[in-house]
Amino acid sequence: MKTIIIVFVLLGAISGLPEEDDEFTDFLSALIEEPVQDLEVIPQTVELNEFNGTLNLHCSFVGNATNIQWLKGSSPISGAGSNLIILNVTRNDHGSYRCNVSNSVSFDISEPAEVFINYGPEDIGLKVSPSGPHHEGSNVLLTCSVQSRPSPEFLWFLNGDRLSDSKPDLRLSNIQTNQDGNYSCEAFNSKTQKMQTSQPLLVPVNERISSVVVASDPTDLVEFNSSVRLSCSASGFSPHYFWMNNGSEVTASDRVQITDGGSTLTIAKVTRPDLNLLRCHAFNYFSEDFSDPVNISIFYGPELVELTVVPSQEHYKEGSDITLSCSAVSTPPAEFQWFINESLLSHSGPELRLSNVEVNHTGNYSCRAFNKKTLIHQASRLSVISVVVESGGLPAGAIAGIVLACLAVLVLVAAGVYFLYRRK
Ligand SMILES: *[C@@H]1O[C@H](CO)[C@@H](O)[C@H](O)[C@H]1NC(C)=O
Ligand SMILES: *[C@@H]1O[C@H](CO)[C@@H](O)[C@H](O)[C@H]1NC(C)=O
Ligand SMILES: *[C@@H]1O[C@H](CO)[C@@H](O)[C@H](O)[C@H]1NC(C)=O
Ligand SMILES: *[C@@H]1O[C@H](CO)[C@@H](O)[C@H](O)[C@H]1NC(C)=O
Ligand SMILES: *[C@@H]1O[C@H](CO)[C@@H](O)[C@H](O)[C@H]1NC(C)=O
Repeated sequence: MKTIIIVFVLLGAISGLPEEDDEFTDFLSALIEEPVQDLEVIPQTVELNEFNGTLNLHCSFVGNATNIQWLKGSSPISGAGSNLIILNVTRNDHGSYRCNVSNSVSFDISEPAEVFINYGPEDIGLKVSPSGPHHEGSNVLLTCSVQSRPSPEFLWFLNGDRLSDSKPDLRLSNIQTNQDGNYSCEAFNSKTQKMQTSQPLLVPVNERISSVVVASDPTDLVEFNSSVRLSCSASGFSPHYFWMNNGSEVTASDRVQITDGGSTLTIAKVTRPDLNLLRCHAFNYFSEDFSDPVNISIFYGPELVELTVVPSQEHYKEGSDITLSCSAVSTPPAEFQWFINESLLSHSGPELRLSNVEVNHTGNYSCRAFNKKTLIHQASRLSVISVVVESGGLPAGAIAGIVLACLAVLVLVAAGVYFLYRRK
């Protein structure tokens, strides 16, 4: 009994209990019969920076204990008494700490004390998803990963300029070419006052096809004669080319060559249908565009040379006015020459006016259209103009008829008179 009391006195001294008699008696009775009480870890919360402090937890209780054990989470920590002291804390010391106090009667476990160990940021990494390639309109996700407690504040930079985003994810929806460049993220831990910046990550944004333009050489073409070389160019990433004319793809033939990866179209002895509605199409792996229709003048004609005479009649009286007009389909507009009986008249122009005609205007008229670009002549059909003399009104046949009729009347009258005279 004496030795037990001595042990109790020693324990009481360790616990810092006053050695006054009545309290000591209470202490003894508690020890023998009652479980430990008012168990708690002090302080309840601790916050330290890694490598920058000592953790000192005290297990406080009322009563006597034969054993004090510390638990981190649910794992026991060996070799600690009522004070748990960890020098130079690391992130692994972060967690919930409880103490388990037992005596011969029972054991009790404290509420947990929370220990926060701040660290980082470190091991910063920047990733892009999907990995690429990216193009205008793509959705791109950049993720900044970092080891840090607590979570740091994030800053984002594009080509060194700060962006407004502040989350660990940077979501770029419908990305544009002005968002092409080097991205980096920066993490700042306000508890450790440390900062870390990622390596820049290049995010190239491929440009969509636009500005499809056709250049032509030469720009003046003569149908069935000229060769034309059409070169197509486009803005955007890695363009490929093909040509469409009037809804169908242009393919190579004896007159048509397609070179320079499709961007150059050479047409020999060009015809109007070759350039009917010719466009260059450019495309890349995600976009396409096409040019305006190629608008080059092709010189052609003259064709369909028409001579019209107004008024149109078989014969014209002397003194009539006659207008002859000549037309032709031609680019540029045709020039006209006039012929009578195949000899050239001095008059030129699309209209020939014959005023106050005379008999000697009679003849076979024609016009000839000439295109000074194509150097082609084309003559009209002949048009017969017949001018007749005016003979006091009636033609010879009619006069003869009238004379005969008058003679017949005279003969009848004479005969009538003769018969009447004979009867008397
Ligand atoms: C704490 O530990 C780290 C890493 O082991 C060491 O670099 C540092 O010097 C230590 N700090 C103190 C105060 O002992
Ligand atoms: C607390 O300690 C007692 C006595 O040593 C032991 O039986 C019990 O398992 C411990 N509880 C925990 C959760 O470790
Ligand atoms: C991105 O960084 C690389 C390498 O540092 C550099 O060559 C390139 O010019 C940068 N791009 C832009 C858009 O700043
Ligand atoms: C073709 O070009 C001419 C001038 O070169 C222009 O007057 C005309 O409007 C153009 N046509 C089209 C369909 O673009
Ligand atoms: C006019 O042409 C016709 C045939 O088309 C021909 O018979 C006639 O002789 C021509 N007249 C003159 C004056 O050449």
